[in-house]
Amino acid sequence: MNLSGTEVIKKKYNRYSKIYDVVELPMEKFFAKVRPDLTRYARGNILEIGVGTGKNLKYYSDNVRVTAIDFSPGMLSKAQKKFSYKKNITFLEMDIQSTTFEDNTFDTIIASFVFCSVSDPVKGLNEIRRICKPGGKIYLLEHVRSNNRIVGPILDLFNPIPLKLFGFNINRNTLKNIKESGFLNIIERIYWGNILKMYIITNNK
Ligand SMILES: C[S@@+](CC[C@H](N)C(=O)[O-])C[C@H]1O[C@@H](n2cnc3c(N)ncnc32)[C@H](O)[C@@H]1O
Repeated sequence: MNLSGTEVIKKKYNRYSKIYDVVELPMEKFFAKVRPDLTRYARGNILEIGVGTGKNLKYYSDNVRVTAIDFSPGMLSKAQKKFSYKKNITFLEMDIQSTTFEDNTFDTIIASFVFCSVSDPVKGLNEIRRICKPGGKIYLLEHVRSNNRIVGPILDLFNPIPLKLFGFNINRNTLKNIKESGFLNIIERIYWGNILKMYIITNNK
């Protein structure tokens, strides 16, 4: 069977879901300090993309309504089991490249470490523009290609390994992809070594 790029990545994440929390544990000590920055300003009708095993979910207040999507049923079911007690969260299996949401549905859209995996990131970001309200906020926490002239090529060299094993890239130029999707109002916040960044975007339409 000849699977599409998206199907191949989905298959990898279904497999990865079984060990994701264990493999990510060392990094999570650091990421856990950053995650509250993603959710802190979330308001209104909130969408979290690529929720994975639900690592951001404990940071949302009980007073907000969150829709959490992921295209991997393996990942989604882990999050759903862990957070079934949170009645303000709805879990849906969905691909961000083509969702079933109406135009202008969400006030806030959040994703962490997702656009390193989406097979056509510009398509996914265009979909975000469509389903986010005008003036709505988008918070993306991403590991990206370093623009350091030594580190960047090293990331290019090693990129095939995580891509083959787990389905993510370590050399995406996410800022370029965001701009290509037509977003104009972008704040870039650097967390670590030019590799870990948060993009805070105001949706222009
Ligand atoms: C590296 S994990 C990050 C999970 C979680 N956001 C976190 O911070 O731990 C990437 C997640 O994005 C999901 N994903 C990748 N491509 C996707 C797509 N096109 N649509 C929806 N989810 C996607 C994967 O299934 C996986 O759960």
